[in-house]
Amino acid sequence: MDLYEYQARDLFEKYEVPVLAGIIADTPEEAKAAAEKLGGVVVVKAQVKVGGRGKAGGVKVAKTPDDAYEAAKAILGLDIKGHVVKRVMVAAGAQIEKEFYFSVLLDRSNRSYLSLCSVEGGMEIEELAVERPDALAKIEVDPLTGIDAAKALEIAKAGGFDDELAPKVADVFVKLYNVYTGEGATLVEVNPLIQDASGNILALDGKVSLDDNASEVRHPEHEELEDKDAADPLEAKAKASGLNYVKLDGQVGIIGNGAGLVMSTLDVVAYAGENHGGVKPANFLDIGGGASATVMAAGLDVILGDEQVKSVFVNVFGGITSCVAVAEGIVKALEILGDAATKPLVVRLDGNQVDEGRAILAAANNPLVTLASSMDEGADKAAELANA
Ligand SMILES: Nc1ncnc2c1ncn2[C@@H]1O[C@H](COP(=O)(O)OP(=O)(O)O)[C@@H](O)[C@H]1O
Ligand SMILES: [Mg+2]
Repeated sequence: MDLYEYQARDLFEKYEVPVLAGIIADTPEEAKAAAEKLGGVVVVKAQVKVGGRGKAGGVKVAKTPDDAYEAAKAILGLDIKGHVVKRVMVAAGAQIEKEFYFSVLLDRSNRSYLSLCSVEGGMEIEELAVERPDALAKIEVDPLTGIDAAKALEIAKAGGFDDELAPKVADVFVKLYNVYTGEGATLVEVNPLIQDASGNILALDGKVSLDDNASEVRHPEHEELEDKDAADPLEAKAKASGLNYVKLDGQVGIIGNGAGLVMSTLDVVAYAGENHGGVKPANFLDIGGGASATVMAAGLDVILGDEQVKSVFVNVFGGITSCVAVAEGIVKALEILGDAATKPLVVRLDGNQVDEGRAILAAANNPLVTLASSMDEGADKAAELANA
């Protein structure tokens, strides 16, 4: 999960990274009040999860609360690279002397961490990497030892900081590394890190990506950082039931067990759809092993709630899971859903206890359910029904 700048700022503060005061505002009136509260020159900043806000007109200096009102009015609703601004942060204004760059990130290909650092900050890091590659230090960080004071100093020196500045920024690097490990992040980036007119080092912009796998187990409090309005309502509902669901744009709802099988099912349905008016898969949904009635019902409930869905293809291969459990799951799920289940279901079962599973579905004799004997046949039938 990527965080908004103001959320990154809050985390920085928690780890004693030096930041400036900031107040979020959803309206120009709130921005004006925030500027009054902060006093002095402020900077009104678009809160969108994309870089380059400054260049796109999403960062404006305001000398008075009335200026802050006007700045917020201009920024709210602005479209920055496809992200519409719904909220701004009114931040205390800094007197910038120098702008620097620092980040620490997960380096998957080297199974390590990597720190990027440059005394030449401010411009986009991608630009710096192309235009002045020598100015950007890339230092591997051993996850077992991390960034301690000595490592931080090594990074600062490699990034081109002089002997006077290096120890000052190194102190901040250690704190930013504490954010990285303490919060289970995959990226902590500060651009720009600055030195102000009084010589203070300050993180003026922060980008943090949290590792969802870490958040689930170690940081239940991260749930509050989630952007619930921005999430697709069906995906949010699926997430609440613990389902692996991704909304797609087609008409055939898909349920399968195992990510690989579900992905091939998407392909096979898309291919079959070419013969049936170009219908396409409506979603990815992996119900995993042990498809209980509750999981099946929750999955069907999400899929049937998608208005675009015209038919559903349940494609299950019983490995450890028995087809009996899956068949019973489908029958019970349809009972649980009752009148809410209105769309035709094509079911292909194979593998462990397939005959017994099919017998259960045949005996239930639900008019919505059609049994298919192979994956191709099931995909074809589901596509045909979606196009009917
Ligand atoms: N609080 C602030 N005070 C003064 N200048 C700022 C402040 N915040 C940002 N800036 C200036 O605006 C530029 C762009 O802001 P930044 O937060 O880095 O957004 P982005 O990286 O999305 O363009 C910064 O490089 C800095 O020069
Ligand atoms: Mg920036």
